[in-house]
Amino acid sequence: NLPPKVHLVEVGPRDGLQNEAQALPAAVKIELVQRLQAAGLRHIEVTSYVSPKWVPQMADNHAVMAGLVRQSGVRYAVLVPNLKGLEAALPDRPDEIVVFGSASEAFSQKNINCSVAESIERFAPVVQAARAAGIFVRGAMSCTVGCPYEGEVAPQQVGQLARLMKSIGVQHVGVADTTGVGTPLKVQRAFEATLQHYALHEVSGHFHDTYGQALANTLAALQLGVAQFDASVAGLGGCPYARGASGNVATEDLVYLLHGMGVHTGVDLEALVEAGAYISAALGRPSGSRVARALLAR
Ligand code: HMG
Ligand code: MG
Repeated sequence: NLPPKVHLVEVGPRDGLQNEAQALPAAVKIELVQRLQAAGLRHIEVTSYVSPKWVPQMADNHAVMAGLVRQSGVRYAVLVPNLKGLEAALPDRPDEIVVFGSASEAFSQKNINCSVAESIERFAPVVQAARAAGIFVRGAMSCTVGCPYEGEVAPQQVGQLARLMKSIGVQHVGVADTTGVGTPLKVQRAFEATLQHYALHEVSGHFHDTYGQALANTLAALQLGVAQFDASVAGLGGCPYARGASGNVATEDLVYLLHGMGVHTGVDLEALVEAGAYISAALGRPSGSRVARALLAR
């Protein structure tokens, strides 16, 4: 008994592109978002408001947000690590902000330059101000099964982070396998720890496919009743602070899996494959989506 429909969050423009060494023009990112929403995606992570020294590819956040042709019913999300980021994001009118913490201490230090406890202290006023402005607040929880610096991460660490996120008013949390090391049962343990603090409809999965486990992990989460997932068109991406981390599960592959099981997504797979072909051509490399490659080869 899988959920009858799944809500997809397209993270290609943000997670997918943040690690690209070559600066991509804002116009290409804007066109990508247009194509994704035309394909039926209703929730898109567009950019992040982080230090341009740390993540140069996201330095054009204002230009990208300003260039969007917004479609009603589409939720535009952005990453915000601190108050400075929120102040920068507010004039660009995101519908949702994402604060991002880690279940492992070492990754917290590498990614956002502070401890887990300090990150929660930083997020608290961000969450409060965003919610006061009517903006939905999601939390990303990195390294929920493994950490590139610490190895295995215990479910208790995940539960602890979820508890802290809840305590400061984060409305939804994503269980992320940052380096894709997770396997289905470990992923289920991470969700179960999270579900001690959040309801099923307040959690989502965020799987990187580094070890080829992302679809299996998705199915494991679906079997627990999880009905929201992040995915990246053409399987773009990787995190600059997680060496070797490849892209998120490709949105095309996830949609194919879901449709094949009779789960509704609202996404037009053919249009999505075309959006993936557009960005792959702009980057000058083949799509990372197996489904896209198979369909384009027909
Ligand atoms: P810091 O150096 O500790 O911050 O960085 P600071 O407050 O000491 O400020 C240092 C400098 O950064 C100052 O500039 C600030 O103005 C500037 P300077 O005086 O040196 O010129 N600064 C900012 N600039 C723009 N926007 C801001 C901002 N804040 C400070 N918001 C900080 C702390 C978090 C800013 C830094 O570590 C950073 O930007 N990290 C990047 C983190 C990132 O984007 N990681 C990738 C996204 S997370 C991810 O991919 C995981 C996810 O997909 C889930 C998963 O897969 O696990 C979500
Ligand atoms: Mg990620």
